Amino acid sequence: MSIQTQGNTLTFASIDGDAGLKAALAMSRADIIDTVADSGMKGRGGAGFPTGMKWNFAGSEKGDKKYVICNADEGEPGTFKDRVILTEFADLVFAGMTIAGRAIGASEGIVYLRGEYTYLRSPLNAVIKKRRADGLLGKDVCGVKGFDFDIIVALGAGAYICGEETALIESLEGFRGEPRNRPPFPVVAGYRYAPTVVNNVETLASAACIFAKGVDWFKSFGTDRSTGFKLFSISGDCARPGVYEFPFGITVADLLKEVGGEAAKAVQIGGASGHCVPASEFGRRIAFEDLSTGGSIIVLGPGRDMLAVARNFMEFFVEESCGQCTPCRVGNAKLLEGVEMLQRGECSMKYLQELLGLCETMQLASKCGLGQSSPNAFVSIVKHFKDEIMGRTLVH
Ligand SMILES: Cc1cc2nc3c(=O)[nH]c(=O)nc-3n(C[C@H](O)[C@H](O)[C@H](O)COP(=O)(O)O)c2cc1C
Ligand code: SF4
Repeated sequence: MSIQTQGNTLTFASIDGDAGLKAALAMSRADIIDTVADSGMKGRGGAGFPTGMKWNFAGSEKGDKKYVICNADEGEPGTFKDRVILTEFADLVFAGMTIAGRAIGASEGIVYLRGEYTYLRSPLNAVIKKRRADGLLGKDVCGVKGFDFDIIVALGAGAYICGEETALIESLEGFRGEPRNRPPFPVVAGYRYAPTVVNNVETLASAACIFAKGVDWFKSFGTDRSTGFKLFSISGDCARPGVYEFPFGITVADLLKEVGGEAAKAVQIGGASGHCVPASEFGRRIAFEDLSTGGSIIVLGPGRDMLAVARNFMEFFVEESCGQCTPCRVGNAKLLEGVEMLQRGECSMKYLQELLGLCETMQLASKCGLGQSSPNAFVSIVKHFKDEIMGRTLVH
């Protein structure tokens, strides 16, 4: 395992994504997909699905119409790294989308841009316009006969659930942003029921880097099972919050040192839907095989009231649940009610156990990732901070 700390210098800044695009376009479609698969890259949006495999599924589907969607909805509480990538390295993202388009046989790319990032629409369109003028988008991209690919920017509907890929697709089609039943997965039947690859902003930018610098270079960062470098949005009780890049495999303790958060009593890894890691576990590594995250890291200082933290997250999920399925719609409301009972010192141990049972039901029976992951923070806070929580609770 090789780990090199990058500190706050973003590798993206030193990469010529269009060199990557040209290198990819010199390959066959199958070789492009194999290269991404060989790199071992997993999606940077949170779920960590292998990117090469996703592109392979979409590429293997028949059909003359396919789509590449860049998920720029960035709604996870505590996440703001995609905004930085889109602001500073849009060319890398567009190069990555074009490579994905070539790989799967798509001619259209769509950036689904978080509603609150409306101010980015015009600068992104300006970059797209320039790329068309430079022959990097449009007809016969980079002079490759028959490879036509263009990109548009669509504005998101302003709900957290619209970041979930099937809800995103529904929203793009003009419907209410609610998750679809799966299967079929978007790689088979996605936007307009055509094969569609949905990738995170950072995944696509990283794909361009792989072609610019090579698979071995990419694999020299990170761990065997989590290759490459990762951007993190770091906020909360630390001296130097911001967007950082670290290789996968960094320990929570080392990360806290970099950002001036050594005094933390806990760190929420993966945003509201992630896990709360106590100080006793700061030796753990941030990687898909240990602590997985799309990049949101919230530092919780010694003065933090953990029930207030749990309440904040549960209020968010009650607000953001789309309401389609019962475990999530009712479960999140019951969990919030439980946190409020705990705050008033009115929750018995027996009822707390029932709430943990409800969490299991939600994780197993909810239709999409929102309800499957919304109990995570509550469960980990109860597990690691039981004394603090029960300190104000009547134990029956
Ligand atoms: C409630 C919810 C919200 C999500 N929000 C985002 C988001 O804002 N950005 C994102 O890239 N992925 C988000 N995802 C994950 C996407 O469904 C999908 O897995 C991801 O875009 C795939 O890209 P990747 O393979 O490059 O990571 C969300 C998932 C859920 C369940
Ligand atoms: S889990 Fe929640 S957000 Fe997902 S479909 Fe069910 S109600 Fe909607």
